Amino acid sequence: MRLAGKAALITGAGSGIGRATAELFAREGARVAVADISPESGEVVVESIREDGGDAIFVQADVSNAGAVAKMVEATAQAYGRLDILFNNAGIPMGFTPIEEVDDEFFDRVMAINVRSVHLGCKHAVPQMKAQGGGVILNTASTAGIRPRPGLSAYAASKGAVIAMTKALALELAPFKIRVVSINPVATDTPMLPGFFGQMDPAEARARFIASVPMGRLNRPEDIAHAAVYLASDAAEMVTGTAFEIDGGRDI
Ligand SMILES: NC(=O)c1ccc[n+]([C@@H]2O[C@H](COP(=O)([O-])OP(=O)(O)OC[C@H]3O[C@@H](n4cnc5c(N)ncnc54)[C@H](O)[C@@H]3O)[C@@H](O)[C@H]2O)c1
Repeated sequence: MRLAGKAALITGAGSGIGRATAELFAREGARVAVADISPESGEVVVESIREDGGDAIFVQADVSNAGAVAKMVEATAQAYGRLDILFNNAGIPMGFTPIEEVDDEFFDRVMAINVRSVHLGCKHAVPQMKAQGGGVILNTASTAGIRPRPGLSAYAASKGAVIAMTKALALELAPFKIRVVSINPVATDTPMLPGFFGQMDPAEARARFIASVPMGRLNRPEDIAHAAVYLASDAAEMVTGTAFEIDGGRDI
């Protein structure tokens, strides 16, 4: 088991990429705090991990809220006595929208949920990681932050910010043996995917996404979960600051 004895906190773990990662982390021996804004979906994931013989707790949090994030980190550290892995993964999508029509409130919301959340998660987890002598922070960004598509300006900006924050923190935290890595998935088959389609016909939008991926398919949530296990494990001891693409070649 590659994560035996480790305590992990995963945001947006009630669905999609976060859920697949929470379940795989637990199978790899980690104790997992499943954090989500939705108690319904989060509790289902906790149940599924426990039924599989794993150890999980649910922590409700809106990751854009400073007080909630502080409590989320505290609840995990209290339950497990430490925090080895923080996976800042919760986020929201953006449907294809020309810049003239992008709502200012939506822009602020995307930045709050996709970027402020990462800032808050790191800010509150780092003291615990420093105190225990190290840790790993994974941040879900996107291919949109590396090779943006038209009509996704606010989303691409949010994910570009996550990639830059990751690199800055990797340098800042290396002396404390805390690694920070961004994970950059191409379009992934989760409940979020239709959120990117905008006014496009869903079947046509799917086909267009697939056609842009050299490997010829969308990501499955498990593709990201497998990468996250490696990146969070001691085998990746020299990997930090990396923008880790899981994209079937899309970013080339
Ligand atoms: N699906 C894709 O095509 C794709 C591609 C690249 C990157 N991503 C990124 O991957 C991450 C996970 O996306 P997914 O596809 O698994 O989506 P998803 O919609 O399946 O899951 C997102 C989860 O985040 C939770 N969430 C939303 N807002 C929250 C908040 N304010 N506080 C706490 N939890 C909140 C939701 O309740 C949900 O359970 C996101 O950051 C997303 O931007 C997704």
